[in-house]
Amino acid sequence: MAEALIINQQFSKEEKYQQLLPQLAALVRGETDLIANLANLMAALKQTFNFLWVGVYVVKNDELVLGPFQGPIACTRIKKGKGVCGTAWQQANTLIVPDVDEFPGHIACSSESKSEIVVPVFNKNKEVIMIIDVDSEALNTFDETDAVYLEKVANLISNFE
Ligand code: SME
Repeated sequence: MAEALIINQQFSKEEKYQQLLPQLAALVRGETDLIANLANLMAALKQTFNFLWVGVYVVKNDELVLGPFQGPIACTRIKKGKGVCGTAWQQANTLIVPDVDEFPGHIACSSESKSEIVVPVFNKNKEVIMIIDVDSEALNTFDETDAVYLEKVANLISNFE
């Protein structure tokens, strides 16, 4: 496994995701420990895009529980249907929130967070087992490109299971 990411910071967002994805696949190949892989994937996303916060919440019983992340400390538990994360879990859908103040029930872990994308991770039975949450300190940061590529990251995680 390569120990360093190679990302051309002159690239567009989509080109960076395209450069990153095979490196993420290589990063987790041969490692079976879920926490180790999640930790490295979140670090790689942070390192590439310098997002304010990038991490996972894991479905445990009837709650999401904080997992590996990069960024400021965050809320540890989120109920189904609550906040952006709990809503994405309930709807089993990616949610792009251009302005968190406009999202009813948004949970403000950090007052610096202005926009957000949340992507569910599914198991083989199509149940949501985790969600990936990415926050930005700018409005309107995330679009369909982030959704497409973060869903590919979610698929990588699904394959650990
Ligand atoms: N804003 C999220 C909570 C998680 S933090 O942003 C890390 C939400 O509304 O679900």
